[in-house]
Amino acid sequence: MYYSEDLIEEVRSRNDIVDVISGYVRLQRKGSSYFGLCPFHSEKSPSFSVSPGKQMYYCFGCGAGGNVFTFLMEYENFTFPEAVKTLADRCGVDLPEVEYSEEARQQADLKSRLLEIQKKAAKYYYYQLRQPKGRVGYEYLRGRELSDETIQKFGLGYSGQQSRELYQYLKHEGYSDALLKESGLFSMDERSGVYDKFWNRVMFPIMDANHRVIGFGGRVMGDAKPKYLNSPETKIFDKSRNLYGLNFARSSRKGNLIICEGYMDVIALHQAGFSQAVASLGTALTTQQAILMKRYADEVLVTYDSDEAGTKAALRAIPILKEAGLTMRVINMKPYKDPDEFIKNMGREAFQQRMDEAQSSFLFEVEVLERKYNLKDPAQKTAFFDETAKKLLGFSDEIERNNYIEAVAARYGTGYEALRRKVNQLGLVLGGQAPAPRPRDVSSNRKEKDEGTAASQKLLLTWMIAGENYFRVIRRYIEPEDFTVPLYRQIAGILYEQQEQGKLNPAGILSRFENTEEQREAAAVFNATLKQIETKEETEKALQETIYKIRQESLNRKGKELAPTDMEGLQKLIQSRRELEKLHISLD
Ligand code: UTP
Ligand code: MN
Repeated sequence: MYYSEDLIEEVRSRNDIVDVISGYVRLQRKGSSYFGLCPFHSEKSPSFSVSPGKQMYYCFGCGAGGNVFTFLMEYENFTFPEAVKTLADRCGVDLPEVEYSEEARQQADLKSRLLEIQKKAAKYYYYQLRQPKGRVGYEYLRGRELSDETIQKFGLGYSGQQSRELYQYLKHEGYSDALLKESGLFSMDERSGVYDKFWNRVMFPIMDANHRVIGFGGRVMGDAKPKYLNSPETKIFDKSRNLYGLNFARSSRKGNLIICEGYMDVIALHQAGFSQAVASLGTALTTQQAILMKRYADEVLVTYDSDEAGTKAALRAIPILKEAGLTMRVINMKPYKDPDEFIKNMGREAFQQRMDEAQSSFLFEVEVLERKYNLKDPAQKTAFFDETAKKLLGFSDEIERNNYIEAVAARYGTGYEALRRKVNQLGLVLGGQAPAPRPRDVSSNRKEKDEGTAASQKLLLTWMIAGENYFRVIRRYIEPEDFTVPLYRQIAGILYEQQEQGKLNPAGILSRFENTEEQREAAAVFNATLKQIETKEETEKALQETIYKIRQESLNRKGKELAPTDMEGLQKLIQSRRELEKLHISLD
């Protein structure tokens, strides 16, 4: 950590969370909290709450939560030190430079210089597009039916004919060769030295979710190859963690995101009003991108190219999106190649209609399967239904499975009952030896159990900060060592410490974690919601169950770790178990 805890705590306490968040979200007071539309997912009615008492925020819709630092990290994509710095400036606290480690300072410095260079380059290209020499680029973009407004919104530009224009400009601005080399905007070779990577292309600046230019794509204006050149990955450009268009799409509030393949597709979609469109950056969709999308939407509509490569890409994207908790549907763009061409020919209403008709990923998979069979041939048709039945078995929920059986039956003109019987028979045949479901079930049971344990530990932490009276009771039975999840144990330790000193301060705890993932998890702990419990008896019962469970698991673990010769330890354990069986929680 770069700053002392005291300093971080001072910055935090001098930045009232309601004030800070009000700068981003319109908040309205309701009782002791403030509510507004969540900036981290799209919604129509406010479920984003900010508590002045706790100095934390929490969204009941998407589960985002944290303190004032976390908010800036999430919203502005800041690192923790960046968030601290911003808030320190805001309240006039001086941060000592020396507390940065030398290396960290250099890295931060390098990154901001690289961002500066990308921004200057973007401005340079943008300006060139409007010069007489850039006319070809401008004409090209207009010829692709982009309006002036769209060209401006996406900051499109033009790289000139000369092969060192940008280099000379940036040199003139005082950047060193070493730095320029790291920007990804230049190539070097021994004979000709340094020259611009992009020339005679229309330029698409790639921005991160916070509108900062991190790289470029450049397209030739004709049929030359390669059609697009892209910036290589640099210290500020990670292709697997960014999506083209997300800087606009994140605030589109449409409830879904549209993912397509190309820069031009994104731009055409936005121009037609589909401001929720994004594209991956010339690579296959990654898990990180899926997780990123999940922050802003629950559903993704896939509009990859309708050719074979696009179909394959869509099939590959399905499990990645599912894994991230997104549902997906696939838009059919036939007979056109991509959304850009579709909209150009058919217009936005037709695209909207295709969106409404987009089919579930399962039916899409079945349709792709179908292409392998000639359904006019009875034997092949049977084989197709066999394959489909196997896929249908993949739904472990019976109602869900039946719904899909119904959909497939209707679509391919076979009887629902007949298909259902086929699926069930197949289930019996495959049941015993089916390789897939069994091992998965076992591991998922185990995972569920671990998750259950973690969930109850998290719940107990939530109780601890919900009120002193709960904490006092919990303390009697549970110690920090009883928390098996390392992060929770750490949090519990700090909370116990704070309670002893008579000042519980959950928001302050977050700052004690260095790594942003831990901070997020810790924030989630403090914002887990306690079920609405009415009576004291019910509260006692819930608390009792949670304490019992955690204590029991802790004792089980101790039992396993006990050396066989440790008689004293064994006696203690037996004693503890007896006590646990007598556990009776009372809030009096
Ligand atoms: P497409 O060829 O589908 O792009 O490639 P597009 O946007 O429809 O291109 P237009 O309409 O002909 O202008 C999809 C994406 O794949 C990457 C780019 O990111 C592009 O947007 N790509 C494609 C490259 O990186 N290099 C290439 O040569 C081609
Ligand atoms: Mn295209």
